[in-house]
Amino acid sequence: MSNIAIICHSTHHGNTKKVVDEMAKAREIDIFTITQAKEQDFSSYEYIGFASGIYYQSLSKDILKLAQTINFNENQKIFIVYTCGAINKKNTSKLERIINDKGLNITDTFSCKGYDTFGPFKLIGGIAKGHPNAKDLDNAKTFITNL
Ligand SMILES: Cc1cc2nc3c(=O)[nH]c(=O)nc-3n(C[C@H](O)[C@H](O)[C@H](O)COP(=O)(O)O)c2cc1C
Repeated sequence: MSNIAIICHSTHHGNTKKVVDEMAKAREIDIFTITQAKEQDFSSYEYIGFASGIYYQSLSKDILKLAQTINFNENQKIFIVYTCGAINKKNTSKLERIINDKGLNITDTFSCKGYDTFGPFKLIGGIAKGHPNAKDLDNAKTFITNL
């Protein structure tokens, strides 16, 4: 068992999953879907990551709901991984609040663009085409290595 867990929700194009899978090439990581995470005891992990695409300017609602149910211990380090059409610091604020209310802080955040064909963007062939690209995936590996 690894000391890093990542709960990953990646429904649009699998962009976030691609990033998380790349991280798992650099370090041993236990990766969970939300369904798997509901059954999981996270108490022995040193690092717990929440990974998601951005949907309506927020991490997935299901990720937020799940985070609310976990009883973190004070030594655990919580981090975020997300992909989105356009980077915006506010994307993570809801999860930050949930974690803060539990007496912890987000210690690290990785973000990069992810191919986005949501709504009107579909008509123009999508935005952030080709992302995550090789550079994004390289940055993801560096991030997890330096966690
Ligand atoms: C329903 C929906 C809403 C989205 N809303 C936003 C948004 O508010 N801001 C943004 O930057 N990207 C938005 N996106 C784009 C996704 O965040 C982006 O494509 C991301 O890489 C998807 O990750 P995934 O493939 O792991 O699901 C949205 C995509 C969908 C499908």
